[in-house]
Amino acid sequence: MKNIKIAPSILSADFSKMGEEVKSLEACGADLVHCDVMDGVFVNNITFGIKMVEDLRKITALPLDCHLMIVHPEKYVERFAKAGADIITVHYEACQDNLKEVLELIKSTGVKCGAVINPDTPVEKIKDVIPLCDMVLVMSVFPGFGGQKFIPEALDKLREVKAIVENCGKDIDIQIDGGVSAENVAQVKEAGANVIVAGSAVFKAPDRAKIIAELKA
Ligand code: DX5
Ligand code: ZN
Repeated sequence: MKNIKIAPSILSADFSKMGEEVKSLEACGADLVHCDVMDGVFVNNITFGIKMVEDLRKITALPLDCHLMIVHPEKYVERFAKAGADIITVHYEACQDNLKEVLELIKSTGVKCGAVINPDTPVEKIKDVIPLCDMVLVMSVFPGFGGQKFIPEALDKLREVKAIVENCGKDIDIQIDGGVSAENVAQVKEAGANVIVAGSAVFKAPDRAKIIAELKA
């Protein structure tokens, strides 16, 4: 089994002190920093973009995992890469027939790439591009906001992705994002996820190191 990695989502951080928040994640044992980029078009919320990634790059060595919830992600891939992203994930729903090209574009910048599917998109839609991915992200909430309830149907999708990944014999991470907590983390791992995004679970916890260790254990 692959090592479990915890990717706290800074969507739930205090934006007025983002540098300190990311430093605290680093000190508390986070493996990646999950950066939720939202444009107010692909989803009904607006967060931050390239400049945030560029500035965080200067203060942390943790990999910056950039989850782009934006339309036309191909327009911004090169700038996110240049800003210091380590992984860029793009939604099937935003790319549709161009998903393969967008993933190849991300790879061409030297950054790891990943495909994301929403709760109502079947795994079938990304089946053909999974071998091109460094990571596959299964959403367990509809993207846009932190603190939503985990959609249990995501578990079967994780199993489906895992079977495809095993079948293609490549070293591909499987990420789960949305509503993950200490209560359901065992289930998502059992279903095949090895990269665990957690926003509210980490940032609302009184002891971040403790919750990160619990999620990882
Ligand atoms: C949702 C984001 C998630 C979210 C996770 O659109 O992609 O990364 O911040 O937050 P929690 O863990 O609170 O569901
Ligand atoms: Zn996310």
